[in-house]
Amino acid sequence: MPRVLAVDPKEPQPEVIREAARVLAGGGLVAFPTETVYGLGARGLRPEEVARIFVAKGRPTAHPLILHVTDVAMARTLAASFTPEASRLASRFWPGPLTLVVPRAAQVPDGATGGLPSVGLRAPAHPVALALIAAVGEPLAAPSANAHLHVSPTTAAHVVRSLGDRVDLVLDGGPSARGIESTVLDVTGPVPTVLRPGAVSLEALRAVVPAVRWAETTIGDPETKRASPGLAAKHYAPRTRVELAPSVEVGARLSRALDEGLTVAAITWSDEATKAVRALAPRVARAISMPSDGEGYAAALFAALHDADAAEVGLLVVEAVPDDATWWAVRDRLARAAHA
Ligand code: TXA
Ligand code: MG
Repeated sequence: MPRVLAVDPKEPQPEVIREAARVLAGGGLVAFPTETVYGLGARGLRPEEVARIFVAKGRPTAHPLILHVTDVAMARTLAASFTPEASRLASRFWPGPLTLVVPRAAQVPDGATGGLPSVGLRAPAHPVALALIAAVGEPLAAPSANAHLHVSPTTAAHVVRSLGDRVDLVLDGGPSARGIESTVLDVTGPVPTVLRPGAVSLEALRAVVPAVRWAETTIGDPETKRASPGLAAKHYAPRTRVELAPSVEVGARLSRALDEGLTVAAITWSDEATKAVRALAPRVARAISMPSDGEGYAAALFAALHDADAAEVGLLVVEAVPDDATWWAVRDRLARAAHA
């Protein structure tokens, strides 16, 4: 069990931030809350410290990390160039859930970027994260604070369960408000390109830079993997086998699995599917009913997947979600979770 310190998510106690900064300055790893998910932080410009993140997560060293900054001024010190589009996007969305992939400056170590010539930068919209970066006085490298390929953590308890003693200190600032990771946008080329759908919608990006491109890739597409080695298909997956089912088929799919002798869990959002699950009630080991709006659903999604996993069932049936803008990132994560 790692050390856990409670911290006020709105007005972080200076002594807690000082203690976390001290652990980082000693070369330790600190998990901290952001508005998207919890991050596993180390000082981002120090290769031996960054290397510890990969060991703790069991993550391949070729997967690039995001460097977290306080503001655009700090970001510019890490970028070889910052285009006018990048500036416009940063001033509109930072601090917030947008990661900009830019050409990296010489001071950014290979270890932080998996050897790529670019680096991902983001200023998180969370008082604890911002206070911690400011106290350290340097950017913090931080992937999501989960073991490699597991579901991202939206609470301190998820971090403790996934990483245990491999993290030196966990700052517990309560549940993450957005609950889904940042949108990753590559602005190194002439056309800004989405590498990962996330908490900033495609429409919001296009309102600032109309040319933003998003190729709805088949999950597992080799082209995506080349552009962003961390985006392998199997990410964001619970341990349990997941199947997506259209709303009208959730009940039938569960019944069939039960007839085959499987234990089952279900995640639904519509009245129709929730009722179908209820009709099977005691035979469904975990029935999770979610908010029916995209943002509310996103905020609850990873906790639901952690919860369903804990039930250790043979099959998790997840009701498919609507095909519109506010569900963009949720659809992406569910498709990955269901990817065999
Ligand atoms: O919301 C978030 O982004 C959270 C919080 C902690 O900030 N962080 C996060 O980090 O999700 P991680 O490492 O789990 O995911 C970062 C994603 C990976 O898919 C990685 O491949 C991509 O961003 N990425 C980072 N730097 C990149 C680069 N230079 N080029 C291409 N993709 C990059
Ligand atoms: Mg991750």
